[in-house]
Amino acid sequence: MATTATRTWLVTGGLGFIGSAFIRMILRERADVRIVNLDAMTYAGNPANVADVASDPRYRFVRGNICDAAAVEAAIGAGVDAIVNFAAETHVDRSILEPEAFLHTDILGTHVLLEAARKHAVARYLQVSTDEVYGHVATGESSEGDPLAPRSPYAASKAGGDLQTLAYFTTYGTPVLVTRGSNTYGPYQYPEKLIPLFVTNLLDDQPVPVYGDGLQVRDWLHVEDHARGILQVLERGEIGNVYNLGGANGRTNLEITQRLVSACGRDMATHVRHVLDRPGHDRRYALDSSKAHRLGWKPARDFESGLGETVAWYRDHEAWWRPIKNGTFGEYYKRQYAERGAR
Ligand code: TYD
Repeated sequence: MATTATRTWLVTGGLGFIGSAFIRMILRERADVRIVNLDAMTYAGNPANVADVASDPRYRFVRGNICDAAAVEAAIGAGVDAIVNFAAETHVDRSILEPEAFLHTDILGTHVLLEAARKHAVARYLQVSTDEVYGHVATGESSEGDPLAPRSPYAASKAGGDLQTLAYFTTYGTPVLVTRGSNTYGPYQYPEKLIPLFVTNLLDDQPVPVYGDGLQVRDWLHVEDHARGILQVLERGEIGNVYNLGGANGRTNLEITQRLVSACGRDMATHVRHVLDRPGHDRRYALDSSKAHRLGWKPARDFESGLGETVAWYRDHEAWWRPIKNGTFGEYYKRQYAERGAR
């Protein structure tokens, strides 16, 4: 079918949680943009995440790893106008068990994409990063100019990717942008992360493993707000710049747990297990996002209704998460949680 698309964006990691939300948004809202989705289909890359757009004539899927320069070349083909890099190893607990994959994808993979952006003179390269690169913030909020102080292998790998990206701007003039988002929640999130893990356990009448005292603070942002922030920075950001995308919505893990337990009709006494804490666990993240606000972006989703809709989505989409939990995730869960004392 003919399309009116005049621009092509390469999205990497578009079978993941935030990447797939971004692709859905672009195909819905930018009729002139064609998307090439390059995804390695590792454990968290799920074709079901883009099932509703897979037959769109403006969407093309290429299976491949960002560390593989030939795969990146094949995805770029005759050229692209922008590269948005969502492809990453993202789970802190996995990075503690097996850090090496994080160095490959998050640092080397970023380097391969930056080289491609340089070679093809791409008009915009956006690196999707995380608030975790700032490390633990006891008080106040992290600003874009703050020193990076990552404390987990995951965060250190992402910081390496950010620094490579910014170095390409300084050294080669590559038109880069970096976004640092806060903890993201919503539909299609792989159930290793706090909210989908707890919701799916609770729907199954299983206990939830709270690390340590559960008083760690995370700043929660709805995935659609996060995707919109990335789009805003891609289209309006000043090249060479970093933009924080936070939800201004700091909550303790215990508060999140309480809300989820009650939304699923369970009770704290029987369903919550306090288990061994994560090593080097950052107590708190908080972002100053005023720079992104000045571009016109602000999170629009109210947390209470966003969380309620997210719980309802998992309740209504058991066919999406059940195969994941019954598959290789089950092995990971046993390994990760057995030594924490969770049952
Ligand atoms: P997570 O979703 O893994 O994101 P991140 O580590 O990138 O912030 O975890 C969010 C918070 O929830 C973090 O403080 C760790 C905590 N947590 C638990 O208490 N139990 C769990 O089983 C998981 C996965 C996370």
